[in-house]
Amino acid sequence: MRKKIVAGNWKMNNTFEEGVKLTNEIIELSKNKTDKNVGIILCPPFFFLQKCVELIKNNSQISVGAQNCHSEIKGAFTGEVSATMLKSVGVKYVIIGHSERRSYFKEDNIFLSKKVKQVLATGLFPIYCCGETLPERESGKLFDIIKTQIEGGLFDLSKEDFLKTIIAYEPVWAIGTGVTATSEQAQEMHEFIRKLIIQKYGSDVAGETTILYGGSCNSKNAKELFANKDVDGGLIGGASLKSQDFIDIVNSF
Ligand code: PGA
Repeated sequence: MRKKIVAGNWKMNNTFEEGVKLTNEIIELSKNKTDKNVGIILCPPFFFLQKCVELIKNNSQISVGAQNCHSEIKGAFTGEVSATMLKSVGVKYVIIGHSERRSYFKEDNIFLSKKVKQVLATGLFPIYCCGETLPERESGKLFDIIKTQIEGGLFDLSKEDFLKTIIAYEPVWAIGTGVTATSEQAQEMHEFIRKLIIQKYGSDVAGETTILYGGSCNSKNAKELFANKDVDGGLIGGASLKSQDFIDIVNSF
C-alpha cells in the first residue's frame, strides 16, 4: 500500500524563532490527534534544517525535507548545498523541480534529472514536482508538458530508485493564487501520471508510487482533493505556515 503524505513547503518564510515555534506546535498538535499512517514532512529553508531535525527527534511520524539541493556532491558552487550535506544533518527528503526553481532559476529537466539521481545516490528521497502553467493548460498542451517533465526528470531511473521517489503534481496557476485545481482536474492528472508510470515501470510500481497534489491546498479543500483515488496527499505551501491549518490538512484523509 502506498504511503499517504502531507509535506509542508515553507519556502523562504520564517525566522529561526518562528521556525522553532511552528515546529513545536506541529509536534504538539500531531500527538494523539493524527492518523499515524499519514507521514508528515517539514521542508524549511536550509538554515533551519538541522534545528528542525533536532526538534522532531524521537517522533516517528515527522521527517524533515530540504527545498532544493545541487546536482554535484561538492566543489566550487557558491551558495549551493549538496545532498551529502543535507544527509549529514539528518534530512531525509529533498524537493526537486519546484515550479519556482524551474521558472526563477531556470532549472530544466536535464539538470533536475541529475539532482534526482544525486539525491538517490546519497540515500535520500526526492519529491519531484511537475506542473503546467495556465497558458499551457488553456492551449490543451497540459498532458504533453507533464509527460515531458516526468519522463525527462525520472524515467531513466531504475525501478528500485523510482520506487523511492515521490511525485508532486502542482499546477503552476494554482500555486499561491488561492485558485485550487478542482477535484476532477487533480484526479485526471494524477491518473494520467500513474498511467505513465504503469507504461514505464508496470502496475506494481505505479501502485506503490505516492503522488501528491499541490497548489492552494488548504484545510477546507484538502478532504475533497484527498478523496480521489490517485491523490495520496499534498505538498502544502501557504497553509503549512499555520500549525492548526497544517494539522487539519494532515487529518483530511
Ligand atoms: P501553495 O504552494 O500551497 O501556497 O499554493 C504549494 C507549493 O508551492 O508547494
